[in-house]
Amino acid sequence: TYVVTENCVRCKFMDCVEVCPVDCFYAGENFLVINPDECIDCGVCEPECPAEAIFPDSDERSADWMEINAKYSTIWPNITQKGTPPADREEWNGKEGKREMLSE
Ligand code: SF4
Ligand code: F3S
Repeated sequence: TYVVTENCVRCKFMDCVEVCPVDCFYAGENFLVINPDECIDCGVCEPECPAEAIFPDSDERSADWMEINAKYSTIWPNITQKGTPPADREEWNGKEGKREMLSE
C-alpha cells in the first residue's frame, strides 16, 4: 500500500484523489488517508502530490503514518474528486511538527 504522511496536513492539495484508479482516498478536515486494504499499489498518486507527502509502505517515512491511514480510512468519508484546498496550503508546505495539527 501507499501511505499519506505528515506533509499533507494543512496542505491537502487533493491532486492525489483525481488519479487513483480505485478511489481509495478518505478525507478528514485537513488531511487525507489511503485505505490500505483497497490500495492496489499502482503508485500513480505518489508523483502527483505537490507536497510530496505520499510514500510506499516500504519507505521509512511511512512508518509513523501507516496506523493513521488504516484507522481513519474506516472513519472518514471517501473522496473521489478534488475539492477546494486550504487557502494557506503553500505556507504549510514543508513545515515541521504538523502531526500535532492533524484534525481527527
Ligand atoms: Fe490509489 Fe494507486 Fe495511490 Fe494506491 S498507489 S492510493 S491505488 S493511486
Ligand atoms: Fe495530501 Fe498530497 Fe493528496 S497534500 S491531499 S496527499 S495531493
